[in-house]
Amino acid sequence: MEIKMAPSLLAADFLHLEDEIRRAEASGADWLHCDVMDGVYVPNISFGFPVISPIGALTKLPLDVHMMTVCPEKYVDRLAEAGAASVTIHTDHTDGETVRDTLKAIRSAGMRAAAALRPKQPASDLDPYLELIDMALIMTVEPGFGGQKFMRDMMPKVRAVREALNRVNPSCGIQVDGGIGASTVSEAAGAGANIFVVGTASFRAPDMAEALRSFRRTAESSYRG
Ligand code: DX5
Ligand code: ZN
Repeated sequence: MEIKMAPSLLAADFLHLEDEIRRAEASGADWLHCDVMDGVYVPNISFGFPVISPIGALTKLPLDVHMMTVCPEKYVDRLAEAGAASVTIHTDHTDGETVRDTLKAIRSAGMRAAAALRPKQPASDLDPYLELIDMALIMTVEPGFGGQKFMRDMMPKVRAVREALNRVNPSCGIQVDGGIGASTVSEAAGAGANIFVVGTASFRAPDMAEALRSFRRTAESSYRG
């Protein structure tokens, strides 16, 4: 499974976004993770289309859009127009049929579809969607804010999702998001994660390129699929 590093824009300096995106590109980022928050699904508001669309036009990095919003189904077409490469939706704010339809719509619009579990959800919540996704996101903090502490107790869930995927959709990746950095990458990779969202530990590292290089090395040597 390919290891990918996805710096999270939430930790960037918003007054200098273009410079920050260039810094991520020059530092070896694979994807750019964009956290969209609506103040309803999570107790925080971040940014939306007026920010994502110009970023999509600016960078060649694939945009990995994490929709921490209710009703993500309303925005699939606009996400595709904005240049999103992958769209992750949460699975606990609506019914299963809407989640399935939204994942299918994301794929039909030419993007990778991903489904997320927040900390209180068990691995089995993803079972109905395993064949409809190109990535599973296991949150390793409560969604809503950067800079929180990694929840180590999510690792058995990462392993359980990896094993379930190995049976029905083995090429599907697993992303972890929240508190990823020098001391946590190896645990997450050992549990079966291969795509790492890194906010604080990338944009706010003294040397972003060196940080991403070392996280990648660690992930590559610790990964267990
Ligand atoms: C939190 C967001 C994360 C956040 C991660 O809800 O989904 O993507 O930016 O930030 P760090 O890496 O600082 O925990
Ligand atoms: Zn995120």
